[in-house]
Amino acid sequence: MATLLFKLAFLAILTSTVSSSFTPSFFNWINATFGEPTAVSLNRADLGAGGSFGGGTHNGLSQTSKRPILIVHGITNTAGTFNNQRNYFLANGWSDETVYGTTYGDGGATAVQNVKMDCAFVMQVRNMLIVVNGFTQQKVDVIGYSLGSPIARKAIMGGNCVDNG
Ligand SMILES: *[C@@H]1O[C@H](CO)[C@@H](O)[C@H](O)[C@H]1NC(C)=O
Repeated sequence: MATLLFKLAFLAILTSTVSSSFTPSFFNWINATFGEPTAVSLNRADLGAGGSFGGGTHNGLSQTSKRPILIVHGITNTAGTFNNQRNYFLANGWSDETVYGTTYGDGGATAVQNVKMDCAFVMQVRNMLIVVNGFTQQKVDVIGYSLGSPIARKAIMGGNCVDNG
């Protein structure tokens, strides 16, 4: 019982501290390696705390001890929609250096029936894959939810979209 309470308290602390954008070391590494537009567009600070997550205190100069996970959210979601799933991994052996998310699209501002599978969504996820792969120096495991699945698939296959040739 005490252990369970401890775990719940620990989860509560995690939940309250992990709703954030990229950590400074990750943001700065992207900025230094790929430039500010890439860092800003993947960080999605425009969406607030749920726009993105990941990075931990890793500096990008070595391989992370574990293969990272990239969670790709569904239609009209944000990365933060998957905080529970993120917390699950953080509580089960993954660290903030190895669980990542970014947001494609406008996080629900556009009504669901008007959202199409935009090439920009695919490229957002592809850029995120490239950045996480470079930063962790590891292959990346990808979990896609709903629309996030076909988008992640296209991103993995090279990012070719109908509207970019
Ligand atoms: C990105 O890096 C450049 C060059 O070091 C720096 O001038 C700029 O302030 C950085 N941008 C942010 C948002 O940290």
